[in-house]
Amino acid sequence: MTAATGRFTLGPGTVIWTDAASAAVARDLARLIQPATGLDLPVRTGTATTGNRIVFRRDASLAAKLGKEGYRLDVRVLNMNDSRPIDPDQLLQLGKLDVLFLQFSGAIWYPMVYEFPPRAKEVLAHKKRVAQLARAFRYIEILDPTFVVPSAGPPCFLDDDLFAQNDAIDDETNIFPDQTIFLEHIRAEDRDGGRLMLPGTVAEITRTSFEVTHPQPPETIFGAAKPAYLEAYRERKRAVIAEARTHWEGKPRVDLLAELQPWWEPLLEEADLIAAGINERVALDVGDEVIVIDFLTRKVRHRDPDEDEPRYQFFIERSLVEHLVREHVDDWVNELFLSMRFSAKRKGPYNDYVYTWFKCLTEERLQYAEGFYAERGPTQGTFELDGWCVQKRCAHMKADLARFGSVEDGVLTCSLHSWQWDLATGACLTSDGHQLYARPVGSEDDDGPRPEDAQPPLTVSHDSESAAAAESGAEVDAANLEREPGAA
Ligand code: FES
Repeated sequence: MTAATGRFTLGPGTVIWTDAASAAVARDLARLIQPATGLDLPVRTGTATTGNRIVFRRDASLAAKLGKEGYRLDVRVLNMNDSRPIDPDQLLQLGKLDVLFLQFSGAIWYPMVYEFPPRAKEVLAHKKRVAQLARAFRYIEILDPTFVVPSAGPPCFLDDDLFAQNDAIDDETNIFPDQTIFLEHIRAEDRDGGRLMLPGTVAEITRTSFEVTHPQPPETIFGAAKPAYLEAYRERKRAVIAEARTHWEGKPRVDLLAELQPWWEPLLEEADLIAAGINERVALDVGDEVIVIDFLTRKVRHRDPDEDEPRYQFFIERSLVEHLVREHVDDWVNELFLSMRFSAKRKGPYNDYVYTWFKCLTEERLQYAEGFYAERGPTQGTFELDGWCVQKRCAHMKADLARFGSVEDGVLTCSLHSWQWDLATGACLTSDGHQLYARPVGSEDDDGPRPEDAQPPLTVSHDSESAAAAESGAEVDAANLEREPGAA
């Protein structure tokens, strides 16, 4: 950019001229200018030498120095918002990482919504919190960045119904620890380079330094100030939340069964692998009506008062379900479940096919999921881990087990989502299905399943973070609950 002096007046006749390489930046500028000025400035590609204009053009004389992108990054930054790379070695091949923006405290409903006894919930939540921090730290160990910024979390609950979910007082049984807790965790692990950033923080970064200027002192937000900060934040957003609630409250009643049958039954007909994976009934209890999604008969119907309890039950306020139906929402996991405005109950272990179903409520999404399940993902052979010969790729979502796997007492844990397997049998201890190939090193287990026979990964994620996978990350804890000292 060339510095100059003079007077420039922005007006309705102003045109933004750009070359093709800078067009995205030019359009961004037009968008930024619009709200404050009311001007919809046209963005044109080409050259103009007259007229009131803003010009975005790369300086050709700098091409040799800056390359065809027109800029050069002096630091290498990885933003891992909503992503859990299963193959971090590929990232390492790009060179030394300077800054890692790391998600450590994402939104999820487990175990809060489940009908567990209160003490059991506390135990499970504590284990989930510990597992989350450990998983995030494992990425730091593997990627070895110079600086780490905990980011993209935790969620902040400002609605009165959910306000208690905030980790206002650094509660060991809360799964939403904040940035300062994770930074403390990093320090406790003898790791330097953690940096706090807030919305509005400006960071000046080089390969060896990371200086921040915060918009307000962090001590006015975190620690002892946090309860008051959250209260004030809630008050500031009260009107916004009240307005949002009008989208689903006070609307005309919807005949749910009449709407859901023609929507879901054709999908059930096509959902061979999901139906086989659930192989049971799922109940939606909206208070004055219970609707059953029957994956055995592939029908949607009312619950028969004489039938036994369906294996999976969701209890959701009627107005919320009506909203989802009225809007024909194709992903109830992100639209509803992540809001935690429901409770749930189930018999037996977690089943991620159930959540896949609720994420795939259109033909397109369903076909994607079915295709995903049908595809036999490569396991990439085996490797040795603590005396076991184990398939290289995790049977959940293909993480590299040489990186994320650990063995204790014959149980393999993949730290990416904390799923576990009994190595002697290959059985998954976290969810139905998901058999893993493993045998003791040196054994001739020719009769056992081969890696290529192991099931493909079974959780389908349409967004970059699988909410269902995030829940399942602690499901193993539910299975082990009775072994927890002090558990109810
Ligand atoms: S990829 Fe291994 S537990 Fe999810």
